[in-house]
Amino acid sequence: ATRAAPRHFLELRDFDGATLRAILDLGSRIKRMQHGRARPLHPRLPLLGRTLGLMLSKPSTRTRVSFEVGMRQLGGEVILLSPADMQLGRGETIADTARVLSRFVDAIVLRTGNAAALRELAHWSSVPVINGLTPHSHPVQILADIMTFEEHRGPIAGRTVAWIGDGNNVATSFIEAARLFGFRLRLATPERHAPPAETVAWARQGGAEITLTTDPREAVAGADCVVTDTWVSMSDSESAQRLLAFDAYRVTGGLMALAAPDALFMHCLPAHIGEEVTEEVFEGPHSVVFDEAENRLHAQKGLLAWALGGEHWQDCGEEE
Ligand code: CP
Ligand code: NVA
Repeated sequence: ATRAAPRHFLELRDFDGATLRAILDLGSRIKRMQHGRARPLHPRLPLLGRTLGLMLSKPSTRTRVSFEVGMRQLGGEVILLSPADMQLGRGETIADTARVLSRFVDAIVLRTGNAAALRELAHWSSVPVINGLTPHSHPVQILADIMTFEEHRGPIAGRTVAWIGDGNNVATSFIEAARLFGFRLRLATPERHAPPAETVAWARQGGAEITLTTDPREAVAGADCVVTDTWVSMSDSESAQRLLAFDAYRVTGGLMALAAPDALFMHCLPAHIGEEVTEEVFEGPHSVVFDEAENRLHAQKGLLAWALGGEHWQDCGEEE
């Protein structure tokens, strides 16, 4: 018998909207179960006996802690794998590393500075591989962002999101989400930092309404949600020239005032106050950045249940 293909989570576009929706719904159900009781009585531990390998070759606070805590809350174990301390750091191939790890752990989260390494790991791994950020994309972040928008404002379909600043990895995953979740996305970036044309084309082919502009005010006008991110990602080198290119893309109170009166402000964090966002906006009434950070945990528990829970993965959010 051939074994079922592992449930990798590499890019949002590998999915249909319904599967992503089911993952988010399960995450929300588990969140309600845990928040709805003073102390969980007999928490179901659907991932008891399973082990997640967290392989992070770049710094992380949210991704590391949310996957680690989420896996434990579902009854599983986590081992932190630092690629620099593995034989990988001395030249062992990704192919061999993947085949060995597959014999030990039940799923792998990879954060890497090399987007091709993620595909390579997934190709050779017989257990699910989850994208924990590459220079190209950050799909788990967007699951949390959709959950956060919808908790505050209801269905995101048909609403307008403005992305301000760098057309980076988080922007790329947002563009894919626009097609899969049916929201309108306007991106304001400097010309040289526009998001990948291929991703924009893919989203538009599926009917997504994507607007590219260099004018932040045009992007934000009437928007239901304003999103930004650092001007210097982990895969970029910081330079005075780079910061200068983004100077007109700071999310200020004045810019937020052009959005819908009840617009949300989101940021995947870590933030650089005074660069991509002012303190006024970050700490202000529109900002939901810490709800957004918390939802990394909840969305990823839905994702872990999907990746590791087998055929009946959606049952693990059921009340006893
Ligand atoms: N937003 C996010 O992925 O944060 P970390 O880099 O701390 O994981
Ligand atoms: N765009 C940022 C996101 C950090 C979570 C980076 O890649 O560094």
